Amino acid sequence: MILGLETSCDETAAALVTGSGEIRANVVSSQADLHARYGGVVPEVASRRHLELVAPVVREALGEAGATLDDVDTVAVTQGPGLVGALLVGVSAAKALAWARGLPLVPVDHLHGHVASLYLGPDPVEPPFLCLLASGGHTLLLDVREHAGYTVLGTSIDDAAGEAFDKGARLLGLGYPGGREIDRLARDGDPEAFSFPVARLDGLDFSFSGVKTALLYAVRDLGHERAEERKADLAASYQRAIVRALVERTRAAAEAVGHDRIAVVGGVAANSELRESLPGGRFAPLALCTDNAAMIASAGRYGRRLPYPRYLDLDAYASRA
Ligand code: KG4
Ligand code: ZN
Repeated sequence: MILGLETSCDETAAALVTGSGEIRANVVSSQADLHARYGGVVPEVASRRHLELVAPVVREALGEAGATLDDVDTVAVTQGPGLVGALLVGVSAAKALAWARGLPLVPVDHLHGHVASLYLGPDPVEPPFLCLLASGGHTLLLDVREHAGYTVLGTSIDDAAGEAFDKGARLLGLGYPGGREIDRLARDGDPEAFSFPVARLDGLDFSFSGVKTALLYAVRDLGHERAEERKADLAASYQRAIVRALVERTRAAAEAVGHDRIAVVGGVAANSELRESLPGGRFAPLALCTDNAAMIASAGRYGRRLPYPRYLDLDAYASRA
């Protein structure tokens, strides 16, 4: 059994996954409420909270699986990218657990983790496929031909798709994190009420700064009261523009590299309009879209295993060099 740990942002998570990809436990403790009053994640607050939560969350995962540390063969942990202080809590906890038991440790890249959410049971997706990874920190189009990695075909040149949702939600006075709030509000709105721009860059890259600015101007032009009245229409139209950009580019990428199978992972994969707009696409299960440790344990099955005790100097990284 693999014990996975994830602390890259504001979720403290631990999971137990078998070598064949069966989830035995998947515990996620979200700090969202703690950060909501600031409208976003405060790194130092996140690190401190991870420190408090990491041991109880591991204990809860073991309990959920009906297992003890004796049943764990490997520890997998998110090494980056993310908030470096937050990552260090998970990396240190993983080192301590692995070292105390003489176990190997697998450092996992968080983005590979999102892709590996597709490799879990009961109905795993097998490469090759085209993968859209859309989260709060990243928007990537990936050519996936093996479990252990992928080739990047395109990325956002400015905001990530989830970030665009979060910033849009903030402009509309909705809560944090904003993606789910916009998704919910959009159901009561008219997606054609406002025409927000869909950026069409050369190649397979994305840009979401234009649509964000367009929403800002629309809210400003309407004025506070009218914007409040038309909040659902604004949310629906804004979501439509983001989803359209994601769907267009994803289809283009699949065609460019000759994949007829499309998969979508990351927090934004939970979006209901996106899920409806790519019929036939494979979406990560809802519980595995946003950050979790089952996906990290899953990626750990294909990563570089560092034998005991050759991981004590392992460092976290905030971004890829
Ligand atoms: O993958 P994730 O949990 O964290 C990162 O690795 O960044 O993604 C979080 C992002 C947030 O920006 C959140 O607003 C977005 O996923 N999100 C959604 C929905 N649920 C979460 N965006 C659109 N619609 C949703 N239903
Ligand atoms: Zn993530």
